[in-house]
Amino acid sequence: MSVDLVIVGAGLFGLTIAERAANELGLKVAVVDRRGHIGGNAYTEREARTGIEVHRYGAHLFHTSHETVWAYVNRFTAFTNYVHHVYTTHDGEVFPLPINLGTINQFLHAALSPRQARDWVREQAGELAGTDPENLNDKGIQLIGRPLYEAFIKYYTGKQWQTDPKDLSASIISRLPVRYTYDNRYFNDTHEGLPVDGYTAWFERMVDNPNIEVHLDTDFFDDGEFGRAATVGSVPVVYTGPVDRYFDYAEGELGWRTIDLEEEVLPIEDFQGCAVMNYPDPDVRFTRIHEFRHFHPERDYTRDATVIMREYSRFAGRDDEPYYPVNTAEDRAKVLRYRERVKAERQILFGGRLGSYKYFDMHMAIGSALSMYENRIKPHFAAGEALV
Ligand code: FAD
Ligand code: NA
Repeated sequence: MSVDLVIVGAGLFGLTIAERAANELGLKVAVVDRRGHIGGNAYTEREARTGIEVHRYGAHLFHTSHETVWAYVNRFTAFTNYVHHVYTTHDGEVFPLPINLGTINQFLHAALSPRQARDWVREQAGELAGTDPENLNDKGIQLIGRPLYEAFIKYYTGKQWQTDPKDLSASIISRLPVRYTYDNRYFNDTHEGLPVDGYTAWFERMVDNPNIEVHLDTDFFDDGEFGRAATVGSVPVVYTGPVDRYFDYAEGELGWRTIDLEEEVLPIEDFQGCAVMNYPDPDVRFTRIHEFRHFHPERDYTRDATVIMREYSRFAGRDDEPYYPVNTAEDRAKVLRYRERVKAERQILFGGRLGSYKYFDMHMAIGSALSMYENRIKPHFAAGEALV
């Protein structure tokens, strides 16, 4: 074997391991990805006609309160001072999200104080007080009351899951945050921003080391120098693909949701005046529209055109991109059985979103990769400890 470590998947988890192993330990690393680019789902590129940076797998906003992760990512890119805000079009009217005092007062055509708004929400939620809701619909009503739930959450969630919330488990939501101020900043993290010269420039700097070779359009389950048959057992492997696929679905297929993105270039400067507009009503099939120019107001983008993407959500088949774990009770039982199988494997570590069947934000994928590096990979190569 020509390398010390093989990494399956060039998403943020795999890139972080590759970067640390090559730059800190001086290892020779091969990263393989079946896609034609690095960056996994966080990949972006410039739309050909307009030069506007578009997020190919859905909008990615970087945010973290984790100081180690923040210091780490800043080694590869600077961040703009972008602060994310989301709006929602309900019944022909635009409201701010997350649900806040502004949303409530606009909804009621009122001027409630924070205390009055709290009392009103509590009174509405009282409809199901003292009950223990089993389905998401009742849970939503119990958390924020029927009026706000039905306007902003019910059909949006129904579209996300293509399922009536009455048939979804209450466990999908534990809380529906309502803010009793006019603050509509979307994320609460200490650090937030977008990479100044784009996500792809950031990711390219992570693998900018002659000891890292990247093999694109290369599936780990095909034959070849870095395929499963040639690597597992003879060289340490970090696998960030789907855990069920690795075991040939022996414990059954895990459920995922995917999204379809419909891109359109419009011959106008500005379509919606903000980056993300949600559509929570049942008469519109998509869940939201992204307009990418608004992620970078500091850039000198063309005023002659804008790029939008409509987002549709559905269950993923085996050939679709898996995005969000469905996580039914059945899925959770399968995951436990897959974890037992993972434990029995030697010379291979499983990580990332697909390898752990867990939704990770980018900072979580990076944080989790940094701990796998510190706890497993470094002790193995630097101190001769067993990998697994
Ligand atoms: P991935 O990025 O999925 O990378 C895994 C890679 O493995 C893929 O490139 C895949 O092609 C490759 N692979 C799989 N199987 C094989 C195989 N057999 N052979 C070779 N290669 C293989 N995070 C945020 O912080 N902010 C956001 O706003 C945000 N928005 C998101 C929106 C959407 C629609 C989605 C799906 C995710 C979003 N995320 C966001 C999460 C972010 O995408 C993840 O944190 C990140 O992708 C996790 O990195 P990863 O390396 O674990 O997985
Ligand atoms: Na997102």
